[in-house]
Amino acid sequence: MKPIPYGRQNITQTDIDAVVEVLKSDYLTQGPSIEQFEINFANYIGAKYAVVVSNGTAALHLAALSLNVKEGDKVITTPITFVASANCVRYCGGEVVFADIDPKTYCLDLKKVEELLKSAPKGTYKGIIPVDFAGFAVDMEAFRNLADKYNCWIIEDACHAPGGFFNDSQSTNQKCGNGIFAEMTVFSFHPVKHIACGEGGMITTNNEKLYKKLLQLRTHGITKDPDLLIKNHGGWYYEMQELGYNYRLTDIQAALGMSQLQRADEGLKRRKEIAETYSKAFKNKPFIKGQSGLIEGHAYHLYIIEVENRKELYEHLRANNIYVQIHYYPVHLMPYYKQFGWKNGNMPNSEKYYDNCISLPMYPTLTQEEQEFVIQKINQFYE
Ligand SMILES: Cc1ncc(COP(=O)(O)O)c(C=O)c1O
Repeated sequence: MKPIPYGRQNITQTDIDAVVEVLKSDYLTQGPSIEQFEINFANYIGAKYAVVVSNGTAALHLAALSLNVKEGDKVITTPITFVASANCVRYCGGEVVFADIDPKTYCLDLKKVEELLKSAPKGTYKGIIPVDFAGFAVDMEAFRNLADKYNCWIIEDACHAPGGFFNDSQSTNQKCGNGIFAEMTVFSFHPVKHIACGEGGMITTNNEKLYKKLLQLRTHGITKDPDLLIKNHGGWYYEMQELGYNYRLTDIQAALGMSQLQRADEGLKRRKEIAETYSKAFKNKPFIKGQSGLIEGHAYHLYIIEVENRKELYEHLRANNIYVQIHYYPVHLMPYYKQFGWKNGNMPNSEKYYDNCISLPMYPTLTQEEQEFVIQKINQFYE
């Protein structure tokens, strides 16, 4: 059996043809594929605007900048995420405050966030960054209601969840990033994610002002929009009105992303099938302490189980060429964040989860035979 990774991209001839077409065209960057990808993605997610950037981390950074996060601003997020969800606050000089996860969803616990907000004078916390971890779509309506009570903004990190959705209080399916509940939602197009660009990211929003600000920040803080210029010397003239970055995506990557986007629902369907197979295989197994399970709006970027003897299982599977992963070592325990006083014991649910979690292979081209091999090797280890 050839090595089985935990996640991987799926590149078809159609994807290759789309990229080659751009390579033969006039624009490798700043061309028409950029806006087209943004329009297509916004339509897919159901948001008014989308801004494509060089990666998910850049998306988070620009989202935080556009909300004016600055020195000393306190922002709440989860420890069970990739470090970038927290780092975007630090890039702007803000302070990251972690709140623990709900052990059932592995995502930021609304009650813990409420406790934090309640415990300090109003205005202490500026924003919340919930993460749709592993693809579980967080109830963003509940977070919106809470955030409004405390004048907080929301950046939803949906890097794991394009196409994921939750059921709102009216039983309507609300897609992650549709712009209704969060000020902005960010996505990543890293190869292990649902849509691969190599590197790439997207921010969706329904707020026109934020949309325009994001566009400007993506390109050095420069604008050529005649409506925004302070002076206008002619067609060549542009102004740098604030300090921005070069966080642009190339048209080559956008072409790949657009082509991948067309198969996004197909990929989601396959991920669900894989989740269902795992779910059935591990039902009632005494060594499984918890699992992602089968959840309606889950986007299944990851399929996670919680087990005893996790390290030994990890080594057993690796020895069998099954490249499982651990997502994630809690961010508050990273050496960088420990310098701010965070320590073991601060986030008991996250720390307990970390001790037992393991992410199993989950990607659309995982074959039935490969998945059976994974399940067999896990059962073999415990039985
Ligand atoms: C939850 C989460 N947020 C943000 C990022 C950052 O995305 P990127 O790798 O595209 O910079 C990732 C990527 O791994 C992620 O998993």
